[in-house]
Amino acid sequence: MSGCIEFVLNGAPRRLPPETRPGQTLLDWLRGPEAGLTGTKEGCAEGDCGACTIVAEEPDGRRTPLNACLALLGQMHGRSLRTVEGLRGADGAPHPVQRAMAEADATQCGFCTPGIVMSAWAHARPTEEDGGGAHEALAGNLCRCTGYRPILEAFSRIPEDVAPAPSPSAPSPAAPPAPAPVALPGGGRFTAGGQDFHLPENLASLLTLRAALPEAWLLAGGTDLGLRVSEHRERPPAILCLSAVPELQRLEADATGLRIGAGVTYGRLLRLVGQDAGFAPLATLLRRLGSRQIRGMGTLGGNLGTASPIGDALPPLLALGARITVASARAGERVLAADAFFTGYRRTLLAPDEVITRIDLPRPPPGAVFACEKLSKRHDQDISTLSAAFLLRIEGGTIAGARLAFGGMAATPAHAPLAEAALTGAPLADASFATAAQALARDFTPLSDWRGSAEYRAAGAAGLLRRLYWRVARPDLAMEVHAP
Ligand SMILES: Cc1cc2nc3c(=O)[nH]c(=O)nc-3n(C[C@H](O)[C@H](O)[C@H](O)COP(=O)(O)OP(=O)(O)OC[C@H]3O[C@@H](n4cnc5c(N)ncnc54)[C@H](O)[C@@H]3O)c2cc1C
Ligand code: FES
Ligand code: FES
Repeated sequence: MSGCIEFVLNGAPRRLPPETRPGQTLLDWLRGPEAGLTGTKEGCAEGDCGACTIVAEEPDGRRTPLNACLALLGQMHGRSLRTVEGLRGADGAPHPVQRAMAEADATQCGFCTPGIVMSAWAHARPTEEDGGGAHEALAGNLCRCTGYRPILEAFSRIPEDVAPAPSPSAPSPAAPPAPAPVALPGGGRFTAGGQDFHLPENLASLLTLRAALPEAWLLAGGTDLGLRVSEHRERPPAILCLSAVPELQRLEADATGLRIGAGVTYGRLLRLVGQDAGFAPLATLLRRLGSRQIRGMGTLGGNLGTASPIGDALPPLLALGARITVASARAGERVLAADAFFTGYRRTLLAPDEVITRIDLPRPPPGAVFACEKLSKRHDQDISTLSAAFLLRIEGGTIAGARLAFGGMAATPAHAPLAEAALTGAPLADASFATAAQALARDFTPLSDWRGSAEYRAAGAAGLLRRLYWRVARPDLAMEVHAP
């Protein structure tokens, strides 16, 4: 039976009429005649500019900025949302964040301003992911007019009572932090405008629906699928959304590693690994995956489901030897090695009725070297040209084991078997890495595209491998140069 989408909007409960089409974007609905909240802008309609930023208020008080241009209306069922119109005081006075923006002259044409105000408001409290400064909070907001200096000035003026919480300190890997519980929306089914949007409430229902609806879109965060609606104006007849399935939201850490439900957002994952010294390189990489808005929606399950050769989260899964659990109503659960998961360009071992349920990520062994790398044209909010993750075991000055995984070098994220063989058993010396870097040329024949030429990719991959040696030999050296 079809129900109504319900959420809290700017503090007031809303029950949408049953004829509301569930697969439209939240942005279209907000700016449409029913809500009439046109303060939230549309710039790019592809998650890049942040003009459409709204904030989800989590039950534990955290604030998650989201791109309303990518979020589908049915996905918002059960959540609490705030738009820029919802910041003003009861007397109509602007919020202190808005005053700070005005007083710092941080707005010229003003088109980007509502989105920036919402990112600043989210930043003024612990966000879903915790940590990070104003630069990180603004990575998903494009302003063409101000040059950002006055915006940063405004961020520094946000009053102390709404100032961001300090970054958490790093406990030892033996005592990983307990992940915070997550509140889930209730399930539901919304049918209107030729679209059937299912929000199953448990894994068994999800798998039954998946078997019955093999053509339905399987929607996790929607940061890939949402583009097909916002940019390409697609209207899928059936959508199967997995965000209300509690089994996919589990997130656990112990001394052996992480168990990550396929529906856990990058933001939640980052909150966990950001406090876990054993996974520090992964946390650094995740901070560069999209923006806070994208990380508040996107999932590891979605990165695997997309199977893009440049999915940032995938090389670390290969380097650490992750295991991927998939399930179907027909065959129950099976566990697949990440090494074997990708079968070709955007193809995987996943059967049409299967859903990825969990990723088990082993902790790097004690004393091992774990490193993640990303080369992109822009430091933040940019898709990789090339990425890599490395795991080295070193015993008595010799490399006892090497797992080297690259993204952007082949049709799938892939190991570099010849370079791995060249390093294994070799002395820990610059010359060994130089030899391995030469072997990389035989491991991969990268493509040229508008992100980078084949030559650039080959040289970049070799450079990252040479840099791995310096990471081990000279951990005191700065590996990144940042603008002041
Ligand atoms: C502005 C922007 C910036 C981005 N930046 C980056 C970046 O820096 N690095 C990067 O790697 N990616 C980036 N992405 C891409 C995207 O955020 C990631 O691929 C993300 O992991 C997708 O996850 P999702 O939950 O949003 O997937 P969705 O869009 O919901 O789904 C993606 C695909 O995976 C399938 N799927 C989802 N969950 C499952 C499951 N449990 N089982 C089986 N199949 C499933 C879906 O059916 C669909 O085919 C960016 C996207 C945007 C719009
Ligand atoms: S409109 Fe640009 S990010 Fe949504
Ligand atoms: S003030 Fe014009 S784009 Fe930011």
